[in-house]
Amino acid sequence: MSKYDVVVIGSGPGGYVAAIRCAQLGLKTAIIEKYNTLGGTCLNVGCIPSKALLDSSHHYQDAVQHFDKHGIDIADIKLNFTQMIARKDAVVAQTSGGINYLMEKNGISVYQGTGSFVDNTHIKLSKSDGSKEQIEAAHTIIATGSKPASLPFIELDKKRVITSTEALSLETVPKHLIVIGGGVIGLELGSVYKRLGAEVSVIEYLPTIVPGMDSMLSKELQKSLKKQGIKCHTSHQVTSVENTGKEVLVKATDKKGNPVEFKGDFSLVAVGRKAFTEGLGLENTGVQVNERGQIETDTQLRTHVPNIYAIGDVVKGAMLAHKAEEEGTMAAEIIAGQQPHINYNLIPGVVYTWPEVAAVGKTEEQLKKEGIQYKVGSFAMRALGRARASMDTDGQIKVLADAQTDEILGVHMIGARAADMIAEAVIAMEFRASSEDIARSSHAHPTYTEAFKEACLAVHQRAIHS
Ligand code: FAD
Ligand code: NAI
Repeated sequence: MSKYDVVVIGSGPGGYVAAIRCAQLGLKTAIIEKYNTLGGTCLNVGCIPSKALLDSSHHYQDAVQHFDKHGIDIADIKLNFTQMIARKDAVVAQTSGGINYLMEKNGISVYQGTGSFVDNTHIKLSKSDGSKEQIEAAHTIIATGSKPASLPFIELDKKRVITSTEALSLETVPKHLIVIGGGVIGLELGSVYKRLGAEVSVIEYLPTIVPGMDSMLSKELQKSLKKQGIKCHTSHQVTSVENTGKEVLVKATDKKGNPVEFKGDFSLVAVGRKAFTEGLGLENTGVQVNERGQIETDTQLRTHVPNIYAIGDVVKGAMLAHKAEEEGTMAAEIIAGQQPHINYNLIPGVVYTWPEVAAVGKTEEQLKKEGIQYKVGSFAMRALGRARASMDTDGQIKVLADAQTDEILGVHMIGARAADMIAEAVIAMEFRASSEDIARSSHAHPTYTEAFKEACLAVHQRAIHS
């Protein structure tokens, strides 16, 4: 029987990063993945394919709606959706293949099969060819991720009533896509299909879309999406979803309790994701799960069994690839005897709509609730030379700073390239910068990043361009 210092179960961004860090630290490491490709949800049916389609659909929309204004006339622009999906598949294959290379480079043993605990130190592998094998692990890191959640009365037939996985591989552009859930998946994939010509209706239970984010962001994003033609029906409660054969009928009640109906050809159910532990044999260990099915860990990501750790979507916290990666690194370093730390308050959140939405730290609502005194500085993108040059003038940046110390407590951005720009705010906050520190740092002109500097200047009532 093969013996390892560490066995990682699951090869998503949590698992494969954990395995690499273990190998870097000199630990004999194996990784188990039940699918034929490595990379988990993120690489295969999540971050990477969704961003590939967001990018392609953005190019198409630009060509159809904006190129003429730039003085580029292209006659007869046609959508080749089959090619768009094929390019997405090629990006996924290349990225997943890259993980195989990284495993080999770092000397990590890769096992294809479902990993299931026999006891706290032995894992049984059930391979897709039917064969079985057992390996021994001094330590195990569980990184089995998550699966789409649904509502009790919805039957996900995966043909017309679909999850994000099917929405990433449709054969035709929907005529009318009814999205249930105005969160990250619903708005990103809704944007893809709106840009490609679909009618898109988003039904959200709560009063705002992207409900966990600062209310400035949800308001601004909803305004932008409305301009693009996406209809967001907030405060609506879905009561039934039916595939009638030719179409999907979604019934709901609006904010006044009146019944409303939506008819479309596809309904994307995007009401969150749930931790995945099926088939893992947790019952053969002392590992415990909470009422939401998430594996319980302490602050060092240790489960109730000291040599078994759990990371990423299968434990509590934001379901984000970069959060899973940080936890993978942390679990590996703790096993190796180090004392790493994650500042969960500084894990950024991004929505890859256009304009992009990105945030880090506390929202205004949270600061109010916590009774923290703060100052606000905002800057509108339309006042920025760079934004006007590229005609991406929607959005703004809001900086929240401590009223006494001026330390930046939260940064909320909506605008072109916010996804990349949020990194500056994360670094500033990791180094506990004041808004004046940013206001006094030179930002290249003309760039979108000047909006962050201006918002910091605005905290001190001294923005230059507004
Ligand atoms: P996963 O990536 O889910 O990987 C878990 C792996 O474990 C899977 O490959 C699974 O097959 C395997 N596994 C499970 N059980 C077993 C077993 N018993 N034996 C062997 N293998 C097993 N996050 C972002 O940060 N940015 C984004 O832009 C983004 N976009 C997304 C878009 C979509 C459409 C979706 C669905 C998600 C997106 N996410 C994004 C979320 C991101 O994909 C997850 O947060 C991330 O993948 C979690 O990583 P993980 O390693 O915890 O688990
Ligand atoms: P989500 O939690 O972002 O959004 C779900 C939405 O559905 C919420 O707004 C919620 O209020 C709403 N909802 C819940 N029940 C409902 C009901 N009965 N009727 C109508 N609306 C209802 O979850 P989503 O979009 O499914 O994404 C899952 C996870 O994947 C997220 O937690 C996110 O972190 C991750 N993800 C991250 C991305 C990114 O970082 N850019 C992109 C896509 C997914």
